[in-house]
Amino acid sequence: MTTSPSPSSHDSDSVPYSMQVPIGISQLPAGPSGCNTLIGCFNHLSLNSSKSRFPTPPKPVASPLGTRDEQRKIYHGPKLSDRATGGPDAGPLIERFSCLFKDQYHCKSNPKGIVSLGVAENFLLQDECLEYFKTAFAKNFLTSDLSYGDSLWGSRRINRALSSFLNDYFHPAEPLTSDSLITGVGCSAVLDQLFYTLMDEGDSVLLIGPYYTGFDRDLIGRARVNLVPVCPPCEGFSPKSIEYFEKKMDELAAQGHRVRAVIVCNPHNPIGRTYPRETLLAYAKFCEERDLHLVSDEIYAMSVYDSPQSDNVPFTSMLSIDPEKELGIAFDKARLHVVYGMSKDFCANGLRVGALISPHNPLLLRAMANTSMLMKISSPADVIWSTLLEDRPTLNKFLATNRARLAEAAAHTRDFFESRGIEVYPSNAGNFAWVNLGPILGIETADEEKRIFQKLLDGGVYVAPGSGYHNPVPGWYRITFSVARENLDVGLRKMEDILGLRKITNGK
Ligand SMILES: Cc1ncc(COP(=O)(O)O)c(C=O)c1O
Repeated sequence: MTTSPSPSSHDSDSVPYSMQVPIGISQLPAGPSGCNTLIGCFNHLSLNSSKSRFPTPPKPVASPLGTRDEQRKIYHGPKLSDRATGGPDAGPLIERFSCLFKDQYHCKSNPKGIVSLGVAENFLLQDECLEYFKTAFAKNFLTSDLSYGDSLWGSRRINRALSSFLNDYFHPAEPLTSDSLITGVGCSAVLDQLFYTLMDEGDSVLLIGPYYTGFDRDLIGRARVNLVPVCPPCEGFSPKSIEYFEKKMDELAAQGHRVRAVIVCNPHNPIGRTYPRETLLAYAKFCEERDLHLVSDEIYAMSVYDSPQSDNVPFTSMLSIDPEKELGIAFDKARLHVVYGMSKDFCANGLRVGALISPHNPLLLRAMANTSMLMKISSPADVIWSTLLEDRPTLNKFLATNRARLAEAAAHTRDFFESRGIEVYPSNAGNFAWVNLGPILGIETADEEKRIFQKLLDGGVYVAPGSGYHNPVPGWYRITFSVARENLDVGLRKMEDILGLRKITNGK
């Protein structure tokens, strides 16, 4: 079904955005919690740690709260929903993360704290962003921003600023309008809402493994979909990888599973690489042939940097491809959805701004609008981001500076590991390096990988283990380099000491 928006729905600035009639719609149709998730890694920690720097979890107490198992033993109150209590238990993750965040390294106030190189946050432009955001807020925050504004599912201001930004920087095949998107409190919330709307419980979604660990939380937590990593023996960024998607889909169908969507994360987290256009077209062709939704998470779109080690494939948005023109095949554009946000490219994980861009599926946007009040972004965040998006000289300067700093931090991190004989993946995007400690430390199993993760944590440095991303080969870790240089260097030195890494001299 192709549901093209009617021309009248575009640029309809005379009609308030919130009152625009949805196009052509009267009525809407009505996990894996195993060890290969970040939650699994943290569960492992709480069970197997003999010398953990974290306190032992408290014994179950007679409280309606607590872990799932505790609840089952001690909770006699009225039943909680199976939906809320039947998914992966985030308890250990929340508990361990709060220890981590409470005990963060600071050179003066907490020099014995944990250096976090495991969270994808970008601190490289923090000073400039803080100063600009404060001024934008002071200048542009109005009394009308104290009300619900001009829409219950976003605002005209942010939709206009964002669609114009996307038109100029993502080069969509057809120009986007304010009606092409819906905003929400970060990409996590948008993904949750999107998959809740696209899928029925138990439906399967295919994506290349390793994959961003947050997809487990965002897609399984409420939507309860089945995330299936495809780990091809070939290069995961080549069009050839699609053959393995086909095989996996057939296998799942034979087992009675229904695949409904494919996710592409471009640039990729945790690998830090951009997809070539031909691969994106191959994904589009596959989704058309198999009648699947195609969701492209492009949260690192503007965090692509020059990297002498990589083939420097430029970022191509899924919005810019045109399979009908480029491949001469029919392509129902209603199946294409792109997710973008402010957290990474704009160094602002805390502001919580994200968006879904689905230019040819008004039914989907309308369905999401039903509950979009649950994820409406706050007006301060709205003001700050729209001001920056519309201020092109500053925006261009910010993006260029961010890229240059990412390139420099990536090269610094690569040099540290490579000079110690450790392989680093040839990345060109994102906030992290994908590093293979397996050979040098003799890691052969996921348990060994997690033991190293534990050892590093106990020694005061947090890095993200590959098994948390469903990586099929043990020994890989994701190291965030977009932190203050002093913290990065302290973290790398700790890794060196704890793991006994040594600089190679004379090629040895
Ligand atoms: C690929 C990807 N998608 C989504 C998110 C979530 O971003 P947000 O902070 O907008 O919720 C992240 C954050 O790490 C990410 O890496």
